[in-house]
Amino acid sequence: MRSRREILQYTGAALAALPFAKAFAQASKPEAKSPGGPIVVSTWNFGVQANDAAWKFLGHGGRALDAVIAGVAVPEADPKNQSVGLGGLPDRDGHVTLDACVMDENGNAGSVACVEHIVHVAALARKVMENTPHVMLVGEGALQFALANGFQKENLLTPESEKAWREWLKTAQYRPVANVENHDTIGMVALDAAGNLSGTCTTSGMAYKMRGRVGDSPLIGAGLFVDNEVGAATSTGLGEEVIKIVGSHLVVEQMRLGKSPEEACRIAVERIVKKHPQKREDLQVGFLALNKQGEHGAYCIQKGFQYAVRSDSVNALIDGKSHFA
Ligand code: GLY
Repeated sequence: MRSRREILQYTGAALAALPFAKAFAQASKPEAKSPGGPIVVSTWNFGVQANDAAWKFLGHGGRALDAVIAGVAVPEADPKNQSVGLGGLPDRDGHVTLDACVMDENGNAGSVACVEHIVHVAALARKVMENTPHVMLVGEGALQFALANGFQKENLLTPESEKAWREWLKTAQYRPVANVENHDTIGMVALDAAGNLSGTCTTSGMAYKMRGRVGDSPLIGAGLFVDNEVGAATSTGLGEEVIKIVGSHLVVEQMRLGKSPEEACRIAVERIVKKHPQKREDLQVGFLALNKQGEHGAYCIQKGFQYAVRSDSVNALIDGKSHFA
């Protein structure tokens, strides 16, 4: 099992292999052009550490895209995080399959879904965006592309996650649950000093999902949407519900109409709640948004969703407001 130090070393090594690391090493801190930036926000409490890694770029004038990929690489490489990357809980047949996507300030997008054996799938989604004519690669094809581009093949099923899966097999009740105990996904969006927005979203998806199941996280517009004129949004929770309202795109479009980030997230949450008006312990969805002015906000179905914020003046974990108390 990797220690915390090894995770950071591992993550650093993975990032060093990427072209943007060189650009970052050469970056100096320019005058901030962005009134609200630089700033980075990300989902859940593991977002705090991830934001620290992103801040190493943003705080030195780095590009938001580089920052978000570096940020989410931390939970992706953490074997103790059972909802992202290495150590993610497997599908019901015991395979760890990962989903991720990325969008940059130019409206470019890349995505991978149902990928096995690759830890840094957000970086892989970036490769799809930058080095192919496509937006999305899935399954075996995504794995082949990863190996051809220098990503290492790894066993992502840790002993802890295998043990949890074997325990689950005793009853094998397939009942997707997204709540505070089974929270999933890191979504991260950032505004850099140059005033540009980017974002990424990466996950192992719902624990014990059907083989081949893909959630909202790799779907542009559902798990993530970035529009450099307006703002960026990402989601966490039960992906099926997010997909059905194209949630992150909805949040950004509400910000375009003048809504604050929190208000835009609330509108998206209430679209889902309208279809499920009774409080259900197993149904959690949270949206997180950042606008072009660097204002942020979140909203979720039920209490428990937190997001992390990092800027020059703030380093905090914030409780998202919820529809149900
Ligand atoms: N929100 C992550 C998933 O449903 O897979």
